Formats: sequence, structure tokens, C-alpha cells
Amino acid sequence: MAILGIARMGHPVLRRLADPAADPTDPSVARLIRDMAETLDDAGGVGLAAPQVHERVRVILVRPPGEAPAFTVINPVVTPLDDDRELGWEGCLSIPGLRGVVPRHRRILCHGVAPDGRHVVHDVEGFVARIVQHEVDHLDGVLYIDRMVDLRDLVFEDQMRHHTGQDRPKTPEGVGDPES
Ligand code: NI
Repeated sequence: MAILGIARMGHPVLRRLADPAADPTDPSVARLIRDMAETLDDAGGVGLAAPQVHERVRVILVRPPGEAPAFTVINPVVTPLDDDRELGWEGCLSIPGLRGVVPRHRRILCHGVAPDGRHVVHDVEGFVARIVQHEVDHLDGVLYIDRMVDLRDLVFEDQMRHHTGQDRPKTPEGVGDPES
């Protein structure tokens, strides 16, 4: 296990397309997932994508706050389940200190492969769906700021109280840390 360095905005790895994992059960993938989990625990975020730790492979970790279960998806594919999009605050471990309001599909399916090699489908909505869409974007070289519709909603974390009346972003589950 190892805590990996997290690429910050400006590093080209965050703007490149990541490759599918040819063999999701390869030991190198398992090792990467373990290291990403330790890195995410250390950083305290709710999600992490492999390009953020300089690995150009399609792997995401989702660690929602509260009761929702954590999961890992290799080669994830997102399918929106409705046309509804809702606005919500997001942060990113690769863009430390900032928060922005981003439109995301409210409910999605996320197909992919679990670390044990089984095909999985996650039917998720709200904040968990938001995390998944944010992480899959990382695999395509997209950052949340690219999705923003109004850059006046891009603020420093310690100034959010001016926007929301609270120091932490409001999420569907209440107050949480959306950094991923
Ligand atoms: Ni991120």
C-alpha cells in the first residue's frame, strides 16, 4: 500500500483520455485500487479517478459520505436515466481550495467491472450519481469547471458561507464534503 501523489489542475495527465483496463483482474489493477483507496482515505475526499494519481487507466473509486455504500468500478460507462439535471456544489482533490456549482444528471446507471472481475451495474441518484459523473469525467480529461454554466459560482471554500450561508457545501444527504 502507498499514498500516491495527486495531480493538480495544470498537469497534462488530467486532460488526457484514460485507457480501458485490458484485464480488470490483473494484479497491477488490484494494487492500483488499494493505493488509490489509501490515497483517498488520506486526502479525505468522496471519490478518486486513476488519472488523478497519474495513472491513465479507467478506474474510479466512489466513497459517499453517510450511509451509501462505497464502490470501485473499472471501465465504467455512465447512462443517464432521465433528462433531469440538478445543480450542486462540487470540489476536486485536483483543484484544492475551490468549490463550484455544476449541473449533473440526477439519476444514472454506471456499468463496469468490479475488482473481483464481475460485471456490475450501479443504479444511483443524487449526490452519489454526482460523484460518479465527476469521476468518469476525469477518465475523459474533463474537470468539473468545464461543466459549470456560471463561473460566478466558482468560489474559494472558505468563502462559501457568502453563497450558501454555511461553511460546507449542501448536498442531498445534508452537509458533506464533495471533494473528489
Ligand atoms: Ni475530481
